[in-house]
Amino acid sequence: MCGIIGYVGEKSAFPILLAGLEKLEYRGYDSAGICTAYQGNLLLCKKEGRVSNLQHVSLSGTVGIGHTRWSTHGIPCDKNAHPFTDEKKEFSLVHNGIIENYLELKDRLRREGYNFSSDTDSEVIVHLISRYYNGNLRDAVVKTLQNLQGTYAFCVIKNDSSEIVGARNGSPLVIGVGESENFVASDVSAFINHTKNAVYVHDFEIVSITGNGLQVYNFDGKEKSYRIKEIDWDVEQAQKQGYKHFMLKEIYEQPEVIQNSLDITIPNLDNVKRIIVVACGTASYAGFVGKYIIEKVAEIQVMQETASEFRYKKLLFQEGDLVVVVSQSGETADTLAALRIAKQHGVRTLGIINVRDSTIAREVDSVIYTKVGQEIGVASTKAFLGQMLVMYKLAYSLHGKEFDGQKIVDYITRILKLEDQIQGIASQYYLYQNFIYIGRNTNYPLALEGALKLKEISYIHAEAYPAGELKHGPIALVSEDMPTLAICPQDSVYTKTLSNIEEIKARNGKVLAIATEGDEKISKIVDDVIFIPKVEEELYPFLIAIPLQLFAYHVADLRECDIDKPRNLAKSVTVE
Ligand code: M6R
Repeated sequence: MCGIIGYVGEKSAFPILLAGLEKLEYRGYDSAGICTAYQGNLLLCKKEGRVSNLQHVSLSGTVGIGHTRWSTHGIPCDKNAHPFTDEKKEFSLVHNGIIENYLELKDRLRREGYNFSSDTDSEVIVHLISRYYNGNLRDAVVKTLQNLQGTYAFCVIKNDSSEIVGARNGSPLVIGVGESENFVASDVSAFINHTKNAVYVHDFEIVSITGNGLQVYNFDGKEKSYRIKEIDWDVEQAQKQGYKHFMLKEIYEQPEVIQNSLDITIPNLDNVKRIIVVACGTASYAGFVGKYIIEKVAEIQVMQETASEFRYKKLLFQEGDLVVVVSQSGETADTLAALRIAKQHGVRTLGIINVRDSTIAREVDSVIYTKVGQEIGVASTKAFLGQMLVMYKLAYSLHGKEFDGQKIVDYITRILKLEDQIQGIASQYYLYQNFIYIGRNTNYPLALEGALKLKEISYIHAEAYPAGELKHGPIALVSEDMPTLAICPQDSVYTKTLSNIEEIKARNGKVLAIATEGDEKISKIVDDVIFIPKVEEELYPFLIAIPLQLFAYHVADLRECDIDKPRNLAKSVTVE
């Protein structure tokens, strides 16, 4: 959460920082700011709202830092926006992460005469740097770090210097190495238009960059070596290419995602006796589908765990355990913490990750990269399909077989042609305030994912239940104001789900079903149906995901929501 960027070189820093912040806005977008150092002064502009609010400004200087915020401490407003300066306006700082002991530090600094201008945890860092500064910015950072507890990546500049100093512990930071210019950012998208040479900063490292130099140090201030990596990203991918939203573009990329993913190879995994899948949000639902498939195909027990809970549980690992962490960004704080805990217990780990060289990708014992390309929409779509596909490949590989998913490509291409019909159905449902989603077997994690998509982009309250669980309480909610989306293809649990739909209809509930083409029975029972092709049971999750995504998308569009940047969310969740 929060995007940070710094530039130092020969060019005017402001437009470079502004363009970089636009690329980082997926990380948080409730306020933004830029600070440059020019002729001994710090020039600062920060505003509540989107990065575009900074467009009419221009600050001089060839060194500067910028920030786009996802609030943790303090509401989104101008005074809580980054960068923060000390009272003498000598230092300016941007931070991503959480300083857990900030209240204690704030009290201490206040007693020493420091005044605070914001409600944030981040501001303590700039006052500490000012307090410890004695002619060398890096030394002041080293001393400051000894006081901080929590997770952070931060960058700081000084009014009369052309150096940016950054530090990392738990939140991402990467250097872009250019010709007579250098960049530092939360991720490479912020500077990829300028350079493809990057140095990933690791936890407990400090970096110092100037126009012509780059040094890496450990937290004791001792210099370390570093490695420059070439980034193989396609800049073109980051454009909407005529689609109204990135989310819609990414939904339409899914046939290609599956096609590209079919040749992914699974590493040899011997003696796996139990799998523990750990992830958050959509990635955890892909893992949940994986649980059903691995248990069915490979007959290996799978536990599906939410990373934010797993990390604080009593863990009872066994010999033969494999922890599989699933993450699009590879930076999710809870998933990363869960991985580190598993590693501390000496358990084997495997990552299913999209972003190359991300922190989780670097720390797992082995990694399988999903081949979905850059996902920009905050609501995950193509990453979900890519993660499911890897889960299927893993299931088959553990069983000593190859998964043949070629036919999924054609099926989902056909379902995408239903977009107009789904938009029409969405127009009948978009004014409801509440929704129930139901499914059995693999359709249950799909129901969870469908409900998550609807709530995160349309702000409609949606809850998913195993269809058989309704009668144990949730059915009390059913009324004509509470429609149900029922996932009911002709699979082994079809008749059971159909009975649950009948129970809803008997209580005046409106039902929209996702069902199998040619199912005349369901058409007579429910109010609306989206038909998908008939396939082998295990392939249904890939097909069902598409109408769920398109339905949520069109409901949100009809409600005129900001689909690619839903309120309160961020693409990369690097805080607990
Ligand atoms: O980057 P990750 O896959 O680790 O992210 C996990 C979740 O934060 C993410 O899937 C989130 O739930 C999405 N907004 C869902 O659309």
